[in-house]
Amino acid sequence: MLDFRTMRHELAEAYDLAPNADLAEEMKDLYATMDRVVSPPEWVQAAPYVAAINRLKREKNAVILAHNYMTPDIYHGVADFVGDSLQLAIKATEVEAETIVQCGVHFMAETSKILNPSKRVLIPDMEAGCSLANSIGAAGIAQMRAQYPGAPVVTYVNTTAEEKAASDICCTSSNAAAIVRALPEQTVIMAPDQYLAQNVARQVPEKTIVWWNGSCVVHERFTAQDLRDYRKWNPDTTIIAHPECPPEVVDESDFAGSTSGIINFVRERKPKQALLVTECSMASNISDELPEVDFVGPCNMCPYMKKITLEKVLWALHSGEAEVHVDPEVAAKARVAVERMIDLSKQLGI
Ligand code: 13P
Ligand code: SF4
Repeated sequence: MLDFRTMRHELAEAYDLAPNADLAEEMKDLYATMDRVVSPPEWVQAAPYVAAINRLKREKNAVILAHNYMTPDIYHGVADFVGDSLQLAIKATEVEAETIVQCGVHFMAETSKILNPSKRVLIPDMEAGCSLANSIGAAGIAQMRAQYPGAPVVTYVNTTAEEKAASDICCTSSNAAAIVRALPEQTVIMAPDQYLAQNVARQVPEKTIVWWNGSCVVHERFTAQDLRDYRKWNPDTTIIAHPECPPEVVDESDFAGSTSGIINFVRERKPKQALLVTECSMASNISDELPEVDFVGPCNMCPYMKKITLEKVLWALHSGEAEVHVDPEVAAKARVAVERMIDLSKQLGI
């Protein structure tokens, strides 16, 4: 558990973190990437942290891999690479730096460690979990196997290392349907996200898909009625959902895709008004780049992703605390499932 008092005291001793208008002005080009969503006073406060983190990254030979749900100060200010879960996993196989700071949730840091056992992987807050990764356990996977003998287990990357180790292949939201389609078996077990599985089942009707009943606390809260209300308010709104949403929500949408799929769709189509049915930072992170698009709600905050803050990123780099460890035997088994996914995705051109 992070001790905030100690962290703040040590950081204040080591760095000048007082709000700094001169530094904020010096870093105005970086600020221009987020000035529609980060106010000038917030930037005056954030700039000393951003400068210190970027300096420490160079000194400590570290890179920051950040998920698309990070806040704009992290996403634009300090990340070396941003992406969806699949892109982050692939990037983790290519990192040359000694240290990876994973700005995302714990399963993402574990995936980086599984793919890079010799590197130091840090996560700014060990308690950045995920309602999906917490929902099944290796025992749940064994139970599904016993219920459906011979069916392969496709686990979403939103799982712990033990859960990945207990499965045959992983998937992410951007490759799930293609991976299920490519498996030779007729019946496929998908875990732990019931809604991703149900959405895939509709895309791959030739297979029998069975699922665990986990769900994402962010995406399960959207309802089809929410979206119908928005359409009634403005029939021209373009609605874009994440496939962790229930199928009836996806049905009300114009497009469904992974977080990077959503970003690419908005970049290409540039709708006048867009409703991103997903985590709140998604719209914030692309609103400077796409000023012509009017982003409207609703969005839901991921309480786990939002545990990652600039202050904790600086602390992770400064202290080297919060290193992610995975038991080598578990990691070796989990690596097979993650690498199968990466190899198959590359083969399928995803
Ligand atoms: P993707 O970035 O792969 O779409 O995943 C979304 C998510 O919820 C990650 O936790
Ligand atoms: Fe987990 Fe959902 Fe948060 Fe992603 S958005 S980390 S799936 S709880």
